Amino acid sequence: MEQKRVIQIRNLNVYYKNHKKTPFSKDRMNHVLKGVDLDVYEGEILGLAGESGCGKSTLAKTIVGMNKIYDGELSQKYSDPQMVFQDPYSSLNPSKKIGWLLEEPLKCDKKYKWTKEEREKRVKEIIKAVGLTENMLDRYPSQLSGGQRQRISIGVALMRNPKVLVADEPVSALDVTIQAQILELLQQLHRDMGITILFISHDLRVIYQICDHVAVMKGGVIQEYGETKSVYKNPSSEYTKELLRAAGIRK
Ligand SMILES: Nc1ncnc2c1ncn2[C@@H]1O[C@H](COP(=O)(O)OP(=O)(O)O)[C@@H](O)[C@H]1O
Ligand SMILES: [Mg+2]
Repeated sequence: MEQKRVIQIRNLNVYYKNHKKTPFSKDRMNHVLKGVDLDVYEGEILGLAGESGCGKSTLAKTIVGMNKIYDGELSQKYSDPQMVFQDPYSSLNPSKKIGWLLEEPLKCDKKYKWTKEEREKRVKEIIKAVGLTENMLDRYPSQLSGGQRQRISIGVALMRNPKVLVADEPVSALDVTIQAQILELLQQLHRDMGITILFISHDLRVIYQICDHVAVMKGGVIQEYGETKSVYKNPSSEYTKELLRAAGIRK
């Protein structure tokens, strides 16, 4: 059976304005993603690995529509991908209560006009789905732990029932025990809601724990792609071998 693609990327190039160069330089743009091809299939957890600065966040932002300067093909509009950011301390507006933060994406929904009752019902559903209780709705982000805040960020991303979550280093800012709980939550949402996840991490051990497939990026280029188990067992690129050695996974 052929699996359905929820995101299809072909020959994607992303550039940033390079402020250091003079306006007369030919090369005023910093070419960050270089000819990226990637498919995300419905129902999978796809890992995106690679060291800091290789372009992982750039790819994530481009997928969710936060980067407008690119060329190539990117189709994702039917899957309405939503981002979960690394740092739950800065991604939630500190002056708003949790209930307000969860409701907000529904008020801004361009596709469907939610009634007040529907919004309240959805907020209660989601706070439960992310493992928290309704008494949290009246609190401010500063009154929550890091793990609880990350649960709220995931909840905000889930409110409009997207097909895909793009989770950019969602556990990198958390303590190890909290990391495990958030990974468990993502896996549970994947199981129960069938949500597809593009899981971005520089941590190859975490990727191994939860990803079916993995893509390894270096310098804005995908170096390797395959089933996580076989890539870790038999990496084809020297770079992946190096990363696995550095993580202590390979001798
Ligand atoms: N808004 C921006 N403007 C200019 N350059 C950027 C911007 N964001 C990222 N970059 C550059 O793009 C490259 C890739 O960054 P990023 O996508 O954040 O990598 P990663 O998430 O893998 O650490 C880096 O060289 C970074 O300095
Ligand atoms: Mg990043």
